[in-house]
Amino acid sequence: MQEVLRVENLRFRYKKDEPLIEDISFSVYKGEFFCVVGPNGSGKTTLLKLILGFLKPHQGRIYLFGEDIRSFNRWEKVGYVPQRFSVEKFWTGTVEELLRKVAKKEKIGWIIAFLHLENLLKKQFVKLSGGEQQKVLLALALTKNPDLLILDEPLTGLDIHAQEHIENTLREIAKDRTVVVVSHDIGFVLRNANRMLCFGMQECKITYPEQFTKLIRELYGLH
Ligand SMILES: Nc1ncnc2c1ncn2[C@@H]1O[C@H](COP(=O)(O)OP(=O)(O)OP(=O)(O)O)[C@@H](O)[C@H]1O
Ligand SMILES: [Mg+2]
Repeated sequence: MQEVLRVENLRFRYKKDEPLIEDISFSVYKGEFFCVVGPNGSGKTTLLKLILGFLKPHQGRIYLFGEDIRSFNRWEKVGYVPQRFSVEKFWTGTVEELLRKVAKKEKIGWIIAFLHLENLLKKQFVKLSGGEQQKVLLALALTKNPDLLILDEPLTGLDIHAQEHIENTLREIAKDRTVVVVSHDIGFVLRNANRMLCFGMQECKITYPEQFTKLIRELYGLH
């Protein structure tokens, strides 16, 4: 099995005396639908930022497609849909213009059809609803046709139809790619994940769907 992502003894804290990520190690393999779960503030988004090289680990190593991210430069293989994104400050254009900025016309046709974006193309991005913006962000990440797609809470703020649509889309994408998703939606995680990483426990644990319900109870202190 090809290792797409490897995290080794990762440690990170924003403030000296506030440990956040303490010695995490795990791997994600080609074709996996890998979910990251855990309470608010437990460090999930931070982990993704470390993987993407936006933040530097204090200790440990991260490998993408077998290469240390400190020298990795094939970033076109990695797509990212952030948790919150704001282009308001500098972007006044339409969705179509935004997509065209990052990819050629012939490359975005399938994405527009795949995500049903036809009706949004002529609208200004800033005037879209949160859920519509979320879909456009996914489209932007797909323009690179990435082998590894990393998403931070892609369902948040979407209505039930859009959630279902995005979930089906991600499932489709995961057929021939690797998907890493942070999600608070336990149903979504249980339906889709091959394995999951649970944050916010004394020790971060990798688990499988069968053991997940028990772990979730522990994680959130539910009875
Ligand atoms: N740039 C920053 N500087 C200082 N502290 C930060 C910074 N970004 C995040 N933090 C803190 O680090 C902790 C983890 O944040 P992070 O965003 O990784 O959590 P999360 O697990 O993604 O939470 P959520 O489920 O709410 O999205 C939080 O306590 C947060 O306040
Ligand atoms: Mg987060």
